Order: sequence, then structure tokens, then C-alpha cells
Amino acid sequence: MSISWNTDFCKRLQIRYPIILAPMAGITNMPKLVAAVSNAGGLGTLGGAYMSPEQLRQAIQEIQSLTDAPFAVNLFAHMGKDQYEGWSKVITALQPVQQALNIPVPTPQMIVTPDHFEAQWAVLLEQRVPVISTTFGLLSDTHMQQAKSLGILMIGTATTVEEAIQVEQNGCDAVVAQGSEAGGHRGTFDTQTKPLGSNIGTMALVPQVVDHVRIPVLAAGGIMDGRGLVASLALGAQGVQMGTRFLTSAESGAHEVYKQALLNSTEDSTVITTAFSGRPARGITNTFIRNWNATGMQPLAFPTQNTLTRDIRNAAASQHNSEYMALWAGQGTRLLTDKQSAADIVEEMMATARTLLQR
Ligand SMILES: Cc1cc2nc3c(=O)[nH]c(=O)nc-3n(C[C@H](O)[C@H](O)[C@H](O)COP(=O)(O)O)c2cc1C
Repeated sequence: MSISWNTDFCKRLQIRYPIILAPMAGITNMPKLVAAVSNAGGLGTLGGAYMSPEQLRQAIQEIQSLTDAPFAVNLFAHMGKDQYEGWSKVITALQPVQQALNIPVPTPQMIVTPDHFEAQWAVLLEQRVPVISTTFGLLSDTHMQQAKSLGILMIGTATTVEEAIQVEQNGCDAVVAQGSEAGGHRGTFDTQTKPLGSNIGTMALVPQVVDHVRIPVLAAGGIMDGRGLVASLALGAQGVQMGTRFLTSAESGAHEVYKQALLNSTEDSTVITTAFSGRPARGITNTFIRNWNATGMQPLAFPTQNTLTRDIRNAAASQHNSEYMALWAGQGTRLLTDKQSAADIVEEMMATARTLLQR
């Protein structure tokens, strides 16, 4: 078997390298990083899920002003409706945190999650983004047809073989196989039956997905360098989607204390938690997560818990206090580099790949 990095996925998109910058919703100032990865020959992805339609339009236009290369925009397929069951217990449990950060305790009326999906979707179509990726389930047939009719390439996310088959049947052109090592939210479709998500390691997940779908598979979770790229290609993936590695890059918009926490962390620093958002996500453990776990309570459902903890996370960030921020990270953090440019990261990965593949 020969391994080539010039995969069908690369050819279809006309990108030089099978390296995708993962969408990272919630991190601001990312257009420069998205454009830098696309300009370096990979595919940058903007995490647009939490943006208002106007913020999304501006971010897309900024990317377009910085690159002529293809890029992707990611949305959550389902944001979900606010649910307030358990509110009074949760708010009581969070009060010490709000006190510590000197912020007011909200009422339920103040915690309303906007569902911008249709307006965000309209912006993606209006701006003719080349690629749309989604997580947390499937889009409707209508949305899929709208995107297809404009020639937009669609990528879905799966955490099991069954989900990947559904992504293919939904009409997606490629599927991200998200292993349990991945930083950020689990893409798992049904978190009612899987409260912590499906958590199959990338090494086990990727070849099983490859064997069960015909569309290109993109490996995600714990891939940090050229070794991870070559390993993923050997497992049959046609590309890798990497988030954590780019969080400490020169162009990253991540907060300085978040970057420091990442650089100080090890392979053993992260946990999967529902404490911040009500959906399972992998991040560096900190006081917020430990205190929440000590209560033994269930959070509010997503997205309500996420909206409720936003003030806490924002206040912590402005106070440079990483103990109450969501420090989403994968398990590969010892392989991080500080302030390396995205282009350098991509080139270094490809140099390793060339050496390992002896070409
Ligand atoms: C800070 C952060 C935010 C993320 N936000 C999103 C998102 O908005 N949409 C999405 O599909 N995946 C998101 N992910 C998951 C990534 O797509 C990807 O699965 C993950 O970064 C791969 O693992 P790695 O971080 O070890 O490279 C996020 C990951 C991180 C680290």
C-alpha cells in the first residue's frame, strides 16, 4: 500500500495539503488564523456557531480579504432549545463562583440563547463559502440541497461508525471522524443516551469509519504533528482536522492565560466535562470543573448551561483567571509549540510527512 498526502479530498478542493484547521467556536479573532492555514496550503475553518449573523458576515469577509484559497465555516447542526429544569439548584451551586468573580447572579429571563441558525445559514449561502462543516448531528434535506445547488462542499462530524454512515446518507461530501482525544465538544448526535458522548480513540475510530463509508474521512483528535498526519493517512484518512495544535500558534486569537494553561498542561490534564455547557467537551481540568464535580449535580441542558456560564467565563477571562474559563484542549498538548506561525506548523508537518514517506 502506498500512502500519498495528495488525497482525493485535496484534489476535490484543490488544496495542497490534507491539513484542516478545526473550527473553534467561542474563540474570537480567528479570521487571521483561518486565512493563514488556507494560505499555507491547508483548509482553514471558521467556527461560526456562536456568532451573530452580522459577526459571521464580517468574519467571512475578513477571511476573503486575506486569502483567495478555499476555507470552511462551521455551524452546529442543532443548537437546541433552552431548558430551565433544575435552574434553582444550579444557580445556587454557581453562586460562590459568581461571588468570587464579583458578577451578578442572573435570573432565568436573562439567560436566553439566541438561535441564529437560519440567519447564519443565509449568510453562508449569500457569501458562497466554499465549504460548510457541521457538528452535533445532521442538517435537513432542504439545507443540504441549498448548499449543494450552490456547489458548496459539505462536511459532517461523526464520533461512531453509525453516525458516519448517517453523515454519508445525509449527502455530505466528507466526514470528520472525531476521536475521544479531541479538544472541545464531542460531536455525538444523541447526548441523551450518551451523556458524555461516544468516546472512541482516533486510532480505533478512523479505520472502522473508513471501512464503512465511501466518502473521504478526515481524522480528528490528538493529531499534533507530521507523525499524526502520516498515521492518519495510513489508517485510510484523507486528511486531518487539528484544533489544539493551532491554539498556541502566532495567529491564534485564544486568550493569553488559556495559551499558558495549554503550554503548561500534559497528556493527563484534560477531562470530558458537561459542567460548562451541558454538552460533553474535553478541556483542561480547573477549579470550575472540580467544584462542579464535587456538587454531584447535573448541569442544565445545552445550550442553557452554556449561556448561563458565559458571564462567568467572560469575567474570568477579563480577570486573567484561567480557573473559571473553559480551557478546551485535546490530549496532545505536550506537542504544542509557542507562537509558531500557522504556515510554519503546516510546513513542518509536511516536512516530517515527506521524510516518513521517503519522497
Ligand atoms: C477550542 C475548541 C473549540 C472547538 N469548537 C468546535 C466547533 O465549533 N465546531 C466543531 O465542529 N468542532 C469544534 N471543536 C472540535 C474540533 O473540530 C476537533 O474535533 C478537535 O479540535 C480535534 O482534536 P484536537 O484538538 O486534539 O486537534 C473545537 C475544539 C477546540 C479545541
